Amino acid sequence: MKFTSIRPAPPVFTLLILFFLFSGQVLPKPGASDSREPHLADTARCLPEPNRAVVASPNPIPWGYDLWLNFEPLDDARLKDAYREAITGMYMEPVGATGQIVYRELTEGLGSMLERPLESLPAPAGMKSAEAGLLLVATWDRLPRFIREIMDRPEIPAEGFLIRQVRAGEKKHLVLTSADDAGLLYGAYRLLRLVQTHQPLDGIDLLDAPKTKLRMLNHWDNLDRTVERGYAGFSIFNWHTLPELRDPRYADYARANASVGINATAVTNVNSNALVLTAPYIRKAKALADIFRPYGIRLYLTARFSAPMEIGGLETADPLDPRVIAWWAAKAGELYAEIPDFGGFLVKANSEGQPGPQNYGRSHREGANMLADALAPYGGNVIWRAFVYSEEDPDDRAKQAYTEFAPEDGKFRENVLLQVKNGPIDFQPREPVHPLFGAMPETPMLAEFQITKEYLGFATHLVYLPRLFEEVLQTDTYREGPGSTVARVVDGSLHDKPLSGMAGVANIGTDINWTGHPFGQADWYGFGRLAWDPNLDSGDIAEEWIRATFGNNPVVVSRVQALMMRSREAVVNYMTPLGLHHIFDSSHHYGPGPWVDEHSRPEWNPVYYHQADSLGIGFDRTSTGSNAVAQYAPELAERYGDPATCPEEFLLWFHHLPWDYKLRDGHTLWEGLGLKYQEGIDTVSGMLSDWQGLKGLLPDAAYRDVEMRLGIQLQEARWWKDACMLYFQTFSGREFPEGMEPPAHPLNYYKNLKFPYAPGIRPQWD
Ligand code: GCU
Repeated sequence: MKFTSIRPAPPVFTLLILFFLFSGQVLPKPGASDSREPHLADTARCLPEPNRAVVASPNPIPWGYDLWLNFEPLDDARLKDAYREAITGMYMEPVGATGQIVYRELTEGLGSMLERPLESLPAPAGMKSAEAGLLLVATWDRLPRFIREIMDRPEIPAEGFLIRQVRAGEKKHLVLTSADDAGLLYGAYRLLRLVQTHQPLDGIDLLDAPKTKLRMLNHWDNLDRTVERGYAGFSIFNWHTLPELRDPRYADYARANASVGINATAVTNVNSNALVLTAPYIRKAKALADIFRPYGIRLYLTARFSAPMEIGGLETADPLDPRVIAWWAAKAGELYAEIPDFGGFLVKANSEGQPGPQNYGRSHREGANMLADALAPYGGNVIWRAFVYSEEDPDDRAKQAYTEFAPEDGKFRENVLLQVKNGPIDFQPREPVHPLFGAMPETPMLAEFQITKEYLGFATHLVYLPRLFEEVLQTDTYREGPGSTVARVVDGSLHDKPLSGMAGVANIGTDINWTGHPFGQADWYGFGRLAWDPNLDSGDIAEEWIRATFGNNPVVVSRVQALMMRSREAVVNYMTPLGLHHIFDSSHHYGPGPWVDEHSRPEWNPVYYHQADSLGIGFDRTSTGSNAVAQYAPELAERYGDPATCPEEFLLWFHHLPWDYKLRDGHTLWEGLGLKYQEGIDTVSGMLSDWQGLKGLLPDAAYRDVEMRLGIQLQEARWWKDACMLYFQTFSGREFPEGMEPPAHPLNYYKNLKFPYAPGIRPQWD
């Protein structure tokens, strides 16, 4: 058996080429000159004095390709000895492709961390006389008999694993076992993480299994490699060179996902292109599926509802037309012939201009069920998105999905899952939970979160998202009485649903560190961990991630964790305090644009959401307004419906209130607004100085990168306060409150800032 101590890093040359190619999201058109006026984005990047001094020294190698899987030698000698004693050798027959991955990960990872090759014993026969401290790795039915005899047969659920220390006579051994290959894989990554994060193995008896069936990434990646709302470079999926060119990065991507339990991925944008369902693209997709399979990941594709017309030559895509039904059935057959474990279709229909069944007078149910019937013979799923709002419907946008889907409960096929965004509008810094959670007991559901930060500062702001996800998951919907949390919708226990889970819009791109902001890795990691178990604590997840990423120095762990946990409230305060929402500059969503009012559809304009006037501010969603509160269970409807009981964090989401409305701390609403903006800025300023206090304790490249990004974040937090408070002042007519730093420029300065090349939207060459 050959021992390899560390996973080979990607060749530095390739990384550098990638870096230069993709570090700017949008490459300038050859020959085109950039005639922009200097604007705030540029000034924002002028860092304070100390940072410039840092930049002057030689640049370290870019950081972060290894993510949280950098199994460096343990630096604690005492601990290393204890682990070396607990694991002296390994017995494992690497069965199949997954078994080989497990074998390689354990020998390489443990070998590297313990700085000693892991001897592998070839056959169970030799084992009785083995030294103590054997690591036995096998699915239960393949474990050596003498081990099975000394263990009670454990009940291990699908995809779950057991790590247990057992005694055979005087000797202690460590057993990693599971019911299936995926469980073994997850168990291997867990064992590695236990060692990597310095957890004790003595007496360990850890049984764990995912609480959800579907733990999925959604890539909003286009076939031309642009990424909608992507801020970490271009798409990692190179459709042009597939299927022949199998970039090693595809396996590294699958490995990272598997290491946190993600088991499904939709690799194409929900604003979809029918081309991906043509034969050549199916072959490309097959190449990806083949790479992902041993990592326990099933591939999904987005299905454009009008595909039968665009690539099938039919003149209709009516879901009740027999030719359309036959076309999709044949397409499903074609897909499964190439990809036998194809996951199914993710569909955005009749939403933001996408085609759908309503184009033919049919319902979402009729469209979803037709596709579900096509996939059912092969065990595939349809994931139908509930993110719909219509330009013809004048009702509050926040209400439209519930109005559309709630009455359809119980009428979908069993293999249809409804995918519901965490809030009723659109991935805002803070939203109340979506009223559909818990309201459709007969319908399997996936909660959709955004890991990419479309409305949270792109990849320049440090905002630890698992804190946001946790807040949503722990919200009580009261649908089945107290304790009906969103987490219980996600894990299926609220209505006894075997099929349920979580989807996250990926934040991954070609940037060397995958996610742009180094802390974006924590969002990907944390999403996976919460999809595995939606009741995990976001603080614990942060700690795990820090230890795996930056090592186990207690000062680093506690300070970075504190910083991450504060970051979530900070962004709400400096962008959209007290329940404000969707006041971003339109289209690219970079920066504030509360004044924008020129778009044809009312709900595309920020003025629709804040409703500021001379009397006050906020969206009345009570019975005197849109009555969106009535879509919640009575407990929540009552709480949200009265400003006196409504949590202040949702005040302006549900109520239009006078400028001198008294907040709980005695300030007027106007004062409170300004002070919240200021609080957000102060928090970011504290985050920056806390980070600077860690200099020398962190990898240099990561330290510098984060320091510069925090500098930008601080500038942009101030920009948000100045722009919003100046604009709202035109309605309130009041002085800024004491304690709020005065704006740096007049309102027009902010209104005139233009960002034609802001990332995350398709480049528009002029
Ligand atoms: C947001 C986002 C779009 C995306 C849409 C969706 O509106 O801005 O880019 O397509 O959500 O979730 O479908």
